Amino acid sequence: VDPEIKALRELYEEATKLYHHLLVNTASGEEALSYLTSRGLDEKTIDAFMLGYAPEGNILYDYFQTQKVDYQLLRKSELFVEWSDGSLHDRFANRVLFTIRDSAGHPIAFSGRKLTQNDDEPKYINSPESLLFNKSAELFNLDLAKDTIKKKKHVILFEGFMDVIAAFQAGVQNGVASMGTSLTSEQIQRLSRMTDKISISYDADMAGQKATKRALDLITQQGRLSAQIIHIPDNQDPDEYLRSNDATAFNQVLVHNVEDPVTFNLRYLQIDRNLHNQTELFSYISDALVVIATVKEPVIREQFLRQLANEFDLSYEALQDQIRPILLQKQ
Ligand code: CTP
Ligand code: MN
Ligand code: MN
Ligand code: MN
Ligand code: MN
Repeated sequence: VDPEIKALRELYEEATKLYHHLLVNTASGEEALSYLTSRGLDEKTIDAFMLGYAPEGNILYDYFQTQKVDYQLLRKSELFVEWSDGSLHDRFANRVLFTIRDSAGHPIAFSGRKLTQNDDEPKYINSPESLLFNKSAELFNLDLAKDTIKKKKHVILFEGFMDVIAAFQAGVQNGVASMGTSLTSEQIQRLSRMTDKISISYDADMAGQKATKRALDLITQQGRLSAQIIHIPDNQDPDEYLRSNDATAFNQVLVHNVEDPVTFNLRYLQIDRNLHNQTELFSYISDALVVIATVKEPVIREQFLRQLANEFDLSYEALQDQIRPILLQKQ
């Protein structure tokens, strides 16, 4: 390993240990610790995920100063923000820290969540890219999840850190997250080397549905993973669901509340459309037929066509006539 990479890894090791220590053993971390506890995380989970707390001030900078760590190395670590006078200041202050680890388990970045709701600051602050952290390639929790992903031949993709962690604590250990940024083809490629099945379990809100659509299109385009969509009941995100439901109920949802990509896409096409309006209904039908035409198996395609006919009281034969040219174009 390149000596600079090695030195940066050591910094992240040290930073992770210090922040974790501040969270679990010191008075300054008390509020953050009770925040995490109130969100349902137990001690074992807090340890397994190397969660931490960054207090106000320059604790990390001061700590590395006592060890006489080289200025250029500190700069490159991206653990600090650099002021215009060249001075370095702790990037994370007064935030709960989620440690981002590479697939070998080395800490390589942090994401800091604020403890209280105030709208002038972002909820999460993330490490920028660095020599260690290639955002578009990493997936949160891949190190702890990879064995289960391979064994089950199944990966669950969540939106947020807390979703992955809450699922993990409930025994669902094949979950990863793309950390808010939209899923990349690089990440999909990595996953498809471990498994052939992916379930997308993003938030039920509009942002989550849009992100699901984007992820699904990319996965389909890449063509190596079979995908399904999981619907968490009551418009909740998985972490919220697990706050009021037990692991058994969650596992039931993962098995039963699933949708195939075509059904998802057809439903997605209905969002923001008034299907009682004839013009909008007709435009929905033509878009829906394009989706249905992606189905390769004639028997399944027919089933979707019949469903569409029934749903809007249309003639099946007319739908067949209308999908034919779309299918011919594909050949
Ligand atoms: N995210 C981010 N920056 C933000 C908001 C979100 O990087 N300002 C990322 C985080 O990785 C977060 C994910 O997007 O985990 C999903 O966002 P959201 O659903 O808003 O957050 P939750 O994970 O539900 O966070 P929490 O439960 O702590 O409120
Ligand atoms: Mn500990
Ligand atoms: Mn969300
Ligand atoms: Mn969420
Ligand atoms: Mn949440």
